[in-house]
Amino acid sequence: MAELRNTDADSAGAVATLLTSAQIIERVRDLGAAITRDYEGRSLVMVCVLKGSFVFAADLARAIALPLRIEFLGVRSYGHGTTSSGVVQITYDLQHTIEGEDVLLVEDIVNTELTVAHLLELLRTRLPRSIRVCSLLHKPARSATPVPIDYLGFTIEDRFVVGYGLDRAEAYRNLPFIGVLD
Ligand code: IMP
Ligand code: MG
Repeated sequence: MAELRNTDADSAGAVATLLTSAQIIERVRDLGAAITRDYEGRSLVMVCVLKGSFVFAADLARAIALPLRIEFLGVRSYGHGTTSSGVVQITYDLQHTIEGEDVLLVEDIVNTELTVAHLLELLRTRLPRSIRVCSLLHKPARSATPVPIDYLGFTIEDRFVVGYGLDRAEAYRNLPFIGVLD
């Protein structure tokens, strides 16, 4: 597939490419194939964590050949800084029950794992049949309480990344690649 470009952002020179659009597309296809195999004969509820996961979830959903529905969970970590506070506020809740369902929590990036641990705890109270985590990126932090990421796209270094849904202060989400700010 041809690589998407966002020449405006590229030519601004502010963002160095870390993962190209082609690399991401290939990896997302592999994740979708693995999920399709693992849940064969079942159906899935993808829970897309807003806002950052919307681009990844849209591509991942189309790489999964299973009956599925998509739910959104709006989440805000306090502050506009570049580190997670771990204090998670739900800004938009699921619109349908997940009781008895196989749930796949779709995250853009897991760093300290505080957000994903909090969301797993919340979703388990809704009594799904199973729950697994799929994250495009993992940026391991030393102080983390390890949360298993069942499906992982890429492990990256401890740099602040933007693009493909990820933002800094709401900007850069529309970059078709993942980049590092200068
Ligand atoms: P955690 O609770 O530390 O795992 O934080 C994860 C959340 O912090 C993600 O869902 C993102 O919203 C944000 N985050 C962490 N690292 C980055 C980054 O490099 N770029 C953009 N957002 C990030
Ligand atoms: Mg996020």
